[in-house]
Amino acid sequence: MNAHFVTLPGDGIGPEVIAQAIRVLEAVADRFDHTFSFEEELIGGAAIDAHGAALGLETVEAALASDAVLLGAVGGPRWDDPNSRVRPEQGLLGIREAMRLFANLRPITVFPQLADASPLRPEILRGVDILFFRELTGGIYFGESGVGEGSAYQVMSYTEGEVARIVRMAADSARTRRGKLTMVDKANVLEPSRLWRRVTTELIAAEYEDLDFEVVLVDAMAMYLLSRPADYDVVVTANLFGDILTDEASMITGSLGMLPSASVGLDGPGLYEPVHGSAPDIAGAGVANPLATILAAAMALRHSLNLEQEAAAVEAAVASVIASGLRTPDIAAGGESVGTTAMADAVLAALSASTE
Ligand code: IPM
Ligand code: MG
Repeated sequence: MNAHFVTLPGDGIGPEVIAQAIRVLEAVADRFDHTFSFEEELIGGAAIDAHGAALGLETVEAALASDAVLLGAVGGPRWDDPNSRVRPEQGLLGIREAMRLFANLRPITVFPQLADASPLRPEILRGVDILFFRELTGGIYFGESGVGEGSAYQVMSYTEGEVARIVRMAADSARTRRGKLTMVDKANVLEPSRLWRRVTTELIAAEYEDLDFEVVLVDAMAMYLLSRPADYDVVVTANLFGDILTDEASMITGSLGMLPSASVGLDGPGLYEPVHGSAPDIAGAGVANPLATILAAAMALRHSLNLEQEAAAVEAAVASVIASGLRTPDIAAGGESVGTTAMADAVLAALSASTE
C-alpha cells in the first residue's frame, strides 16, 4: 500500500527519536512491499522560533491530508516563561483539536526484563496490562477561561455526545481484551463527572452488558494504580484525570522511555507519539531511548493503516531487543548502555531477521 506520514519532530529529543522511527518505517515498507512517504512539519517551540506560533496552518493542513502523523515532543525551558502567552504545548492542544482526536490511547504494559526499574514490588507488577482511553478534546483543557485581578478560572464542561463516543470506543476495545471496563470520575463532587457516570452507566447497560463494568473515583484510582494495577484492563476517563493518571501509570512500568500513545478520532488520520516528553536535559546527546517512538509508529501501522502484521513485527523486534539485554541509559539501571542510533540499529536487525 501507499501511505503518507507527516512527521512533527518538535523539540528536545523529538527530532532524534523521530529520525529512528522513520528508519524503522522505511524498513517495514521495504520488507512488506509498501511505499511510505514522509513530510516534516513544524510544531511546538520549533514552530514558535520559526513563525512566532506553536502551530501553523501549514502543519494542520499537511496533517489532515496525511494517513498518519508521528510526533516527537514539544516544550523546553527556552519557551518556559510563565508570563508568555505563546507556549509550545499550544501546538499539541491545537493539533488534537484541529484533527478531532478525541481519544488518547495509552497502553501500560510491563516488559518483564525491565521490571527491576519499577518502583513497585515485582509481585504487584505481575500481569499488568492496562489500556487507558483518555478523552482528549473536551473538559477543562478546552473550557472557557479567564484571568481577572487576583483570580483566574477555567470551566470543565462535557456533552453527552462527547462522553458516549469515547466510552463506546473504550467498551469496544474491552471486548477484544479481557472484557473489563473501568470508568474513572469525581462524581461525588463534580457535575460533569455526574454526567459521565449517568451516560456511561446507561450506555453499558443498554449495549455492553457482557462487560465487567465498574466506576471508580479518581482519588481512589490514584491509590489502586499503585496497590493493585493488575486488576485493570480498559480504563476510560476525562481529559484532566487521564493526563494525571497516565503519568502515574507510566511510572508503574519503570520504563517511561518504552511507552507509546495514539490519539484518534472517528475517522481521518491519527497522531502517534511517545508518552515521554522532550527531555531537554539529554537533547542532542544521542542517548534518548527511541523505542517509545518506534512503538508509536507500530501503533500508527495498526490503527491508521490497518497493517496488523507489520505492527506486530515491529513490536516483536522491540521485545527481542529488550530480551537480548540492550539498554539505553534510561532503562539501564546504571549498567552498560548504548545510544539512540545503536538501539534503533538493533531493532532494524531484529526486524530483518524475523522477516527473512
Ligand atoms: C500529555 C501532555 C500534554 C497534556 C501537555 C504537553 C499539553 O502532558 O500529552 O499528557 O497535558 O495533554
Ligand atoms: Mg501529560
